[in-house]
Amino acid sequence: MSDLSRRQMFLKLAAAFNGAIGVVLAIPIVSYLFSPVTRGENAGYDRWIPLGPIDQFPVGQTRLATYRNPGASPTDGETAEIPCWVRNIDGNKLQVFAINCAHLGCPVRWFPQSRLFMCPCHGGAYYEDGSRASGPPERGLFEYAFKIVDGAVHIKAGELQTPGLSSATRKLIQIEGHPCA
Ligand code: FES
Repeated sequence: MSDLSRRQMFLKLAAAFNGAIGVVLAIPIVSYLFSPVTRGENAGYDRWIPLGPIDQFPVGQTRLATYRNPGASPTDGETAEIPCWVRNIDGNKLQVFAINCAHLGCPVRWFPQSRLFMCPCHGGAYYEDGSRASGPPERGLFEYAFKIVDGAVHIKAGELQTPGLSSATRKLIQIEGHPCA
């Protein structure tokens, strides 16, 4: 084999190798760009997520529920399971609270005996309707928009509830969470 043909062969091999590397690097970018199409219309972070049948949340009680983070990928495993508190007021009217304290985000716990949510980090406390009772939090618990469809509770969980959430979004949550919505 002459020097020229050997050089041409190495050039072709190098070009093929570079092309293969380019394809591998392009896969995540292309799948990101086309994910809204490939995952279907019932995907994405801004969609209604089922929490379970309304029967799981007895009237007058507050129960823990979990949902899967709509922005999670299959490799996120159990870390994508997010808890929230569901308060069933009268069977039609609910409140679904983010589990995170409105102070610095620690998970709050519900104490049915005192009918209070308590934060283990700095002693923040909230009444059963989520309003602030005492401690460092400057406001009540954040709430998810909810609706009841075919006997199942759904929430709009795409916007993680944080103090940075815009006031316009908070208003939307309150309106959508109304039982007449
Ligand atoms: Fe809950 Fe500070 S994080 S009181």
